[in-house]
Formats: sequence, structure tokens, C-alpha cells
Amino acid sequence: MTGAQESVLLDGISELTTNDEANGGRVTDAALVMEGGRIAWVGAAGNAPAADQRIALGDRAVLPGWVDSHTHMVFAGDRTAEFEARMAGRPYSAGGINVTVEATRAASDEDLEANITRLVAEARRGGTTTIETKTGYGLTVADEVRAAHVARRHADAVTFLGAHVVPEDQDPAGYLELVTGPMLDAVAPLASAVDAFCETGAFDEAATRLVLETAREHGLARRLHGNQLGHGPGVRLAVEYEALSVDHLGFLTEHDVDALASSWAGGTRGTVATVLPACDLSTKMPLAPARRLLDAGAVVAIASNCNPGTSFTTSMAFCVATAVLQMGMSVREAVRAATLGGAIALGVHTDGWRDPHGVPQPAVGVLRAGARADLQVLDAPSVTHLAYRPAVPLTRAVWKAGVQEI
Ligand code: NIG
Repeated sequence: MTGAQESVLLDGISELTTNDEANGGRVTDAALVMEGGRIAWVGAAGNAPAADQRIALGDRAVLPGWVDSHTHMVFAGDRTAEFEARMAGRPYSAGGINVTVEATRAASDEDLEANITRLVAEARRGGTTTIETKTGYGLTVADEVRAAHVARRHADAVTFLGAHVVPEDQDPAGYLELVTGPMLDAVAPLASAVDAFCETGAFDEAATRLVLETAREHGLARRLHGNQLGHGPGVRLAVEYEALSVDHLGFLTEHDVDALASSWAGGTRGTVATVLPACDLSTKMPLAPARRLLDAGAVVAIASNCNPGTSFTTSMAFCVATAVLQMGMSVREAVRAATLGGAIALGVHTDGWRDPHGVPQPAVGVLRAGARADLQVLDAPSVTHLAYRPAVPLTRAVWKAGVQEI
């Protein structure tokens, strides 16, 4: 194990994925130095400077830690029965969320802490170094505030998802007033973004507009769950309200694809198209058209959507392999989407972003001098093995902010 303060030279890197335009995103026969929690130097092994400690990796691939930009890790309970019913042919419906809401409200703080601790540790073992997580299984002011506090203790970015579903004990109009009023006021200081499930059976266009509008008034970033269960206004609203990302995207018109691509025109910040391959498989929904999005010029992220209903996995490697094997992405596109793409979706790809405690952080999702030293070593010579050897746990070592955690 190594700490953050001493300088550490990693050499014997057969392939270093940097996501840095300056070196074409990749250096072969490479070395890397980290110091003080940041990357200090990246380049060809023959030019490597001396460091306090040297670790020879023996011809293994190094890449940024995964940036999982969409998870729901604050929950209790189990939905195995719903999964089994779905595999037997019953369609997914948003109503399953209420099962988790009931279990989450009934859980102790210790149970919620233990569950997210286990999931974050599992994700870390799989190479994930940055995690966004959402509230959304509390759906009362007190339960959403509790979820946001738990999320702040474990995640790198916290999103308020009071607009997940209308709880069974509430009427839709009254609940919308609560979510966009007192609940938002209470959770806003604990979160950096607001999300809404814009879908038939959850929140319609008018309700979603109100959620996005009030989020903007509170100075919070916007995200949306959209176009998951059918065609709808999600993408259009996400682009209109300058959301950081719109996630799911199984049902896209040409207009939706164009809107996502055009949102980046002229060098301005746009809306990231986040695809969730494990969720598409588990819900038996169409796989999001990642190839079409990339070809149109959209910025694509891949995330796990770890949650107990539709995607109970923390494995970003599984999502990357699925994106390559089933969604027409190249390995390098998928790796970029699961690292830098996720970082752009969270707004953490540039220096100075603030973690949930307000502490400014160096850029993540990229391995260049000055960026946060968040990286993983694969037990493989190249990232191609992530898809070539699917489901094999290839992550061998993980550093987060220069501290070796695995
Ligand atoms: O991203 N789509 C809405 N939210 C989750 C599902 C959560 C659940 O079913 O518990 C999702 O898939």
C-alpha cells in the first residue's frame, strides 16, 4: 500500500489510458508519477523521473478509475422477487420503487450506512473511484434529508431525487408542491444537483418542468431520468434546462439525438447522454443507441445505475463490456465514456469542482499532470481485455487521490 504524500512512480505500464488530447488519449510503454494526491507526471517509460517509491507493474494496463455518474445507493430491502417476475415476463413498472421506499423508511440509520458502505467498497474493488448517488427512496422531508446526509458521507456527488415517484400515501399535486417547496429547501444545502424521473407512471412534462425550474432557482445543477420506458419529453427538457446529463435513453427519436449532439455546438457545455447498459438488460428494455449518439457527436457517459430494482450491480467493467459487445461502442469509446464521460456528466472533469463538503478538488476522469490521482491497474496488457474477457475481475490495484485503496 502507498500513501498520498510520497512520490510514487508506476512503471511497466504496457498501455496508459490518459483521456488527454495532448497524447492522443493513450501512451504505450508508459510510466506515471503521483504525489500529494495528484498526478505529477505522465509519459514514455524511458523519460520517467525519479520518485520516492517505484512500483513495477509488469506490463499491465493503467486507466483512470471509473466515474459512476448514476447510482441509487441509499436504500434498504431486496427486490429479488420483482427481478424473478421480470425474468419470467412481467414488465418493469416504476411502481416497484415504492417497495424500496417502504423498506428504506423502516430501516435504521445504521442499516442504511452499512448497505452503502458495502456497495461503495464493492465498487472500489471493481475500479470505481468516483460515485454519484441519489436520494429518492425516502420521499418525506425527513427521509430525504436523512438519505442526503448518508449520501454525503459516502459519495463524491449527491443528487436530490424527491421526484422519483409519487409515494402511495400522497396525492400527485400535493406531493409536487412538497418536492418543489419544503423538501427541496431542506435537501438543497446537502446536494449539488436535482434529478426527476420524467416518465409515464412517474412525473409528466409539466411536473418535470416545475422540478427543473425550482432546481435552477436554487442554483442546483439539473439531471433527468428520461426516455427509459418509452418516447417522451425527457431529452427535450434536459437540453432546454441545460441539464448536466439525461440518463437511460432507450427510446430516442432522431430529433432527440440531434438535440443532445447540438447541445455541445460552439464549444459550449451541453447535456451528456448517459447510457445504463446493466439497467437496459435487467429491465428487458431496448439498449440505448450509444452508436447513434456517438456518430451524431453527442458526449456519452456509461454508468451502473446501481439500485435494488432495475440494476443491482456496481460493476462498471460489466457495463463497459456490454457497451462494447451489445451497443456498438469500441473499447476505447466505452472506457472513455465510463471515465471522462462520467466526469463530464458530474461536472468534475475540470479543476476546482467541489466535493459534497465544499472542498475544491482537482479534475477527475483524466490522467495528466495536476489531475487527481484516481486510477486503476488491470491484470491485463490493454483495456481491450475488459470486453475480450467479460465478467473476469481484472482490476488489480486502485488509487484514489493518490492513496492506494486496493
Ligand atoms: O434509474 N428510473 C428510475 N429510477 C431507477 C429505478 C429505481 C427502482 O426501480 O428502484 C432507475 O432505473
